[in-house]
Amino acid sequence: MDGSLTRISAKKLGKTVFTNNDVLPILHDISFEIGAGESVAVIGSSGSGKSTLLSLLAGLDTPTLGEVCMMGQSLNTLSEDGRAKLRSQYTGFVFQSFQLLPHLNVLENVMLPAEISGLDLQDCRIQSQYWLDKVGLSHRLEHFPNTLSGGEQQRVALARAFINKPAILFADEPTGSLDEASGTRVIELLFELNQECNSTLVLVTHDQALAAHCARRLHLHAGRLV
Ligand SMILES: Nc1ncnc2c1ncn2[C@@H]1O[C@H](COP(=O)(O)OP(=O)(O)OP(=O)(O)O)[C@@H](O)[C@H]1O
Ligand SMILES: [Mg+2]
Repeated sequence: MDGSLTRISAKKLGKTVFTNNDVLPILHDISFEIGAGESVAVIGSSGSGKSTLLSLLAGLDTPTLGEVCMMGQSLNTLSEDGRAKLRSQYTGFVFQSFQLLPHLNVLENVMLPAEISGLDLQDCRIQSQYWLDKVGLSHRLEHFPNTLSGGEQQRVALARAFINKPAILFADEPTGSLDEASGTRVIELLFELNQECNSTLVLVTHDQALAAHCARRLHLHAGRLV
């Protein structure tokens, strides 16, 4: 792949976790490149290392071996602050467990990444309302996360990931808590973002429909690409 088009590359990635008395190898020798505008589904059984891989690719966690390059920059050379800055500039992340901030209401949760990236407060509010409308939650702006269902929290998390129109969107089971109709709508939204903004999508999913929609699939088995 032409280096200038590569948004994410993994080079011989390995991850081992050291607990009290245990050494737990999680990922082994993972290498691939993902280009601008690509859509990639990371699939594999529970415990195969999908979420761990996504965290490494997004620079939320550091590998034991190898390196990740994001937008041509090696994450190994950056401090935690440097990685956070790169993430804020280029990425959106939808976590498997949503990770909404409990003391902020729906509107404020979605505004946050735009505020951090320096957008004017009024524009943050307008963008937040726009994306919450897209995910069908414009009637819940003032509500707090603990009053929402799992599927509603997931849609807030998606709106929050979309607000900066990220060059790379990482999503861990983005349709995992949704009914069929909401899931279909979210898949449409993901691919709208992919097409309109040329955003690269990297999705972990057990959803066959979503995996089939992606141009490429990376299959993990016991921490290895197969
Ligand atoms: N910090 C950690 N300490 C110990 N074990 C860990 C840690 N992080 C991940 N693991 C283990 O690594 C393996 C892979 O975890 P991971 O969360 O990446 O799986 P997954 O493929 O996302 O699974 P699921 O589909 O259930 O979400 C699991 O066995 C998990 O228990
Ligand atoms: Mg997982």
